[in-house]
Order: sequence, then structure tokens, then C-alpha cells
Amino acid sequence: MVVAVGQKSALITGCTAGGIGHALALEFYKQGFRVFATARRLDAIQDLHDKGLETVALDVTEDTSVKAAAAHVADLTGGTLDVLVNNAGQGYREAATDFDVSRAQAAFDTNLFGVMRMVRDFAPLLVKAKGKILNVGSVAGLIPSPFRSIYSATKAALHSYGDSLRLEMKSFDVTVVTLMTGGVTTKMSTKPPPSEGIIPPESLYWPAAEVINDLYSNQADNAMSPAEYARRIVAFAQSSKDVPWFWEGNFATAIWFMTTFLSKKALEGILGRAIKGMAEMESLIRGAKSS
Ligand SMILES: NC(=O)c1ccc[n+]([C@@H]2O[C@H](COP(=O)([O-])OP(=O)(O)OC[C@H]3O[C@@H](n4cnc5c(N)ncnc54)[C@H](OP(=O)(O)O)[C@@H]3O)[C@@H](O)[C@H]2O)c1
Repeated sequence: MVVAVGQKSALITGCTAGGIGHALALEFYKQGFRVFATARRLDAIQDLHDKGLETVALDVTEDTSVKAAAAHVADLTGGTLDVLVNNAGQGYREAATDFDVSRAQAAFDTNLFGVMRMVRDFAPLLVKAKGKILNVGSVAGLIPSPFRSIYSATKAALHSYGDSLRLEMKSFDVTVVTLMTGGVTTKMSTKPPPSEGIIPPESLYWPAAEVINDLYSNQADNAMSPAEYARRIVAFAQSSKDVPWFWEGNFATAIWFMTTFLSKKALEGILGRAIKGMAEMESLIRGAKSS
């Protein structure tokens, strides 16, 4: 691997094909960065390796894996990293009343504690480079997201963590930005993974199970492509713009406007009507109660 003098480096978590991480890795590479594309399984990102990107195995839920990746990258770069993108994440759909502690903890472990491990172990490299940390947040962490309350809670916690981390890292000239992300067409937005709760027969919501399972099925309609999202994020990462939250993805601007200028009550009313299937769900539940 020949490294150009002054070449900046970027590491992205969760780079398997079809997702935001994969697109970000390719875009950083296209813009001349030395890219460390990471994933739980190296064979899942072989295509990136074949294109010339450096690939590293990394599971953000494993302390040993994160520490080993940090040591490996430090060896390769002389102890520096310019951009860390904490992208790895998992979706989660379930009624709040069907809460399962181990599934919820797994979601927090990836979406929140995974980022915390990465920051802890890559901090020395980022400090040396006066680098940037970009955490992939979600508008779902800001607005009511029925049947995704636990996913939303992981992201809301991540936003809060990022806001404080930003001030802690300021003395080292390390910038921390939450990417307040709207709809992007990936497998997370198009199809719930099997780990996400379906409504079980014993659930309070069983009479509306079919409608609920389909609740966000139109989420990917008109969503931004991962390549376009990546193009905008990498342009931002290369700019001198320094903001705590950077909004991108489908509906991100509309949600910025609504969360900035509307009352929570007004927002709830608009979203309750905008989520396709919510009204039908409510009438099925009320109908089942009264019969
Ligand atoms: N798509 C959207 O509309 C949207 C909107 C807002 C925010 N986001 C956020 O964007 C990020 C990327 O999601 P996506 O939409 O691109 O979905 P995705 O295609 O499902 O990508 C998620 C990535 O995270 C990886 N991952 C999961 N658990 C991991 C772990 N323990 N260690 C390392 N990697 C792990 C996945 O790897 P495997 O393939 O091995 O599972 C996959 O590469 C997530 O943080 C998500 O919450 C997405």
C-alpha cells in the first residue's frame, strides 16, 4: 500500500454492501482518502478490498475486536486517524409493551455502547490527527416513532452522548458531529431484520399485527440513495463547516423544521397522520376492545 504524503485517513464501521457504510467507504476513497472499511466479517466486504480499500474485521459490540482494530490501524498509520464514522447500527421494531430485555440490550450495545467503545479506543489516533468523529444518528431519535421506541431510544441517547463528547473533545481540536439522518434506501429502511420483533399472539397489539408489521413499509419510498447520502456527507466532512448536528437524508430538512418550530403536541398530530397505517391500527385495536 503506497500512501501519499498528506493523505487523510477515514475509518467507517458497518460497511457491508447495500448500506450507508459501504457507500461512505467508496465515496471517501473516491475523494482520495486512505480508507479503512470495516465489518464484522471480512468476506462481506471483499468487494471493497478488491477495489483497493483496506479492510479490517471489527465488531463494535466486542471490546477485544475494537481494541485490536485500533491497534492495527495505529500500526498502519503511525498512530493517527483523520475521520472516524460510527455508522454500524441495527434496527429494532417491537411494541414497547412486548419489551424483551436481551433484544433491547443488544440494540443499545450496537447503536450506543458500540460507538462509545470506538471513541474510547480510537481517541488517541483522532487526537493526534485533530480529527473528526461523525456519529450516524437518526431523525427517529427525535420524533415519536411508534413500534420503534427502543431503536429511537438508542439513537436519542447517541445524540445526547455526541453533544457532550463534542465539548469534551474540543480542547484536543477533535470535532464531533451527529449526522441527523433521514430516510436512506438500505436494507434497514426497506425490510425489518428477523431480529426485529413481529407482534406475537400474546401481544396487546395482536388484532392489528398485520398493519403494524407493515407500518413503515413506505419509508423507503423516495428515500435518498446511499451513494447520494455518502456524497453529501463526505463533502461535509471535507469542509470546514463545524456544527453539532448535520441533517441529511429524506425528510431530514422537514423534520429539522418541525422539531425546531412546532410544539411537540403539533408534531405528534402531524406524525400520527403521516405514518401510513396508524389510524387503521388504532381502529382495529379499539374495535377488538369493544367486541
Ligand atoms: N437507512 C436509513 O433510512 C437510516 C436512517 C437513519 C439512520 N440510519 C442509521 O444508519 C446506519 C447504517 O444503517 P443502514 O441503513 O446502512 O443499514 P444496514 O444496511 O443494515 O447497515 C448496518 C450496518 O451495521 C453493521 N453492524 C450491525 N451490527 C454490527 C456490529 N455489532 N459491529 C459492526 N457492524 C455492525 C451491519 O453489518 P451486518 O451486515 O454484518 O449486519 C451493516 O453493515 C445505522 O446506524 C442506522 O441506524 C439509517
